[in-house]
Amino acid sequence: MQKIKLSKDDIYKGNLILVNSKNLLKSDSNIETLEPFSLEFKDILLNKEANEQLHKALKFIKSENKIVPVSGYRSLNEQTELFNSSIKENGEEFTYRYVALPNASEHQTGLAIDLGLNLPEIDFIRPSFPHEGITEEFRHIAPDFGFIERYQKIKQNITLIDAEEWHFRYVTYPHSKIITERGLCLEEYIELLKHESLKYEDYEITYIKYQEGLEIDSENIISISGNNQDGFIITKKIN
Ligand code: DAL
Ligand code: ZN
Repeated sequence: MQKIKLSKDDIYKGNLILVNSKNLLKSDSNIETLEPFSLEFKDILLNKEANEQLHKALKFIKSENKIVPVSGYRSLNEQTELFNSSIKENGEEFTYRYVALPNASEHQTGLAIDLGLNLPEIDFIRPSFPHEGITEEFRHIAPDFGFIERYQKIKQNITLIDAEEWHFRYVTYPHSKIITERGLCLEEYIELLKHESLKYEDYEITYIKYQEGLEIDSENIISISGNNQDGFIITKKIN
């Protein structure tokens, strides 16, 4: 049986890393897989796999150009500039509600995308993404393509970010489905996995805490992601 060795650095990589003000980004390893959203929006970069799934989702609802990308990957510098300029222009209260501190932003992973209705004026920090029409259709099918609506009002006390109807985070299928169906935020999901393994369709999801010399059997594994805290989330497909 083939073994997979996991190092301490691997904790900070992968599609399920939890990035927030209490779990800062420690690695920029996802950056290697960035690609432009499209030729038209070539300055908006996204993790390659996330971008492919996003395009599938937009095609599925026949969005054409009705929904457009507003902000994807941001470097540490870009996040810092956004945070500082928002403090100046919008004040502290607003900024802490809607802009993550440098290294606390999922946008630095390439796994987050802000989407907006294609209107003549699009607000960069708070694009319009209403709970009706094509944007609501996107919200409904996003988990089938690996995305979650990351910041919901009801979880503001946990995420410490206000409702952001436009911000979607790629966490991969079936995690996106489980998180959505159980009404969890990513913080709660990562915590839940520390206490129980989950089954969903023919997937099995388990958490393993990091220890030196950790090796796991590769059998049936379809993905391994660090949690950006202390261990790994292993996703297996059992047939
Ligand atoms: N708007 C989200 C919280 C960010 O800045 O990452
Ligand atoms: Zn965002």
